[in-house]
Amino acid sequence: MRRAGRVVAEMHDRIREALHPGVTLLDLDAIGRDVLARRGARSNFLGYHGYPAVICASVNEVVVHGIPDRRALVEGDIVSIDCGAVVDGYHGDAAFTAGVGEIDAESRRLIDVTRAALDAGIVELVSGSRLGDLGAAVQGTIERAGFSVVREYVGHGIGTAMHEPPDVPNFGKRGRGKRVAAGDVYAVEPMACAQGSATRVLDDGWTVVTADGSRAAHWEHTVAVTDDGPEVLTLP
Ligand code: MF3
Ligand code: CO
Repeated sequence: MRRAGRVVAEMHDRIREALHPGVTLLDLDAIGRDVLARRGARSNFLGYHGYPAVICASVNEVVVHGIPDRRALVEGDIVSIDCGAVVDGYHGDAAFTAGVGEIDAESRRLIDVTRAALDAGIVELVSGSRLGDLGAAVQGTIERAGFSVVREYVGHGIGTAMHEPPDVPNFGKRGRGKRVAAGDVYAVEPMACAQGSATRVLDDGWTVVTADGSRAAHWEHTVAVTDDGPEVLTLP
């Protein structure tokens, strides 16, 4: 899973470098495909319930699962890139949100707070804690900043499949939920909205947008619980 995670991190790095005005979402998908091919890794997104790409590219009010198309990014956009890789049967999955050129201060804050919520969740992944501890930490970070937490989509276990039990909600109560043990691996993935948290799915059957059109951010890492604490696998 470390090897799969490093491939995902390389996809992120290469795509992040390309996030300039004028680049299309399909250009970004092609970069992801190139890294997978060079590393001899397989995409866990491509073909998943018929999904047609190796990345999700979710712009502005799109929360998750945006399908790459010929849309070109423009200065001021924010875009969430979610992708994964499979190496020798083991999966990695991670996402980040970034701005294109100069972005407004509130979008910057939304991105940074969601990133901080991911970190606040990850540090809860120690043997003996509960998933409710993680959910409460993530939720608290987002809501204290005045943003809202998406409820309809959650993190997940991950291993020899991209999505394994249990669900990993980005909300909850301390002391509740499944107990965390060394050896567990979780995809932690907070999704936050600038205004309301309600979402809807567009007619393409994939694209999840905020119901009120406000912007959203999404960050994700694949994290192993070890005897020495959490180990983030989707880093270079
Ligand atoms: N990576 C997403 C998740 O974090 C799932 C993407 S579904 C796909 O769980 F079809 F787009 F691959
Ligand atoms: Co995931």
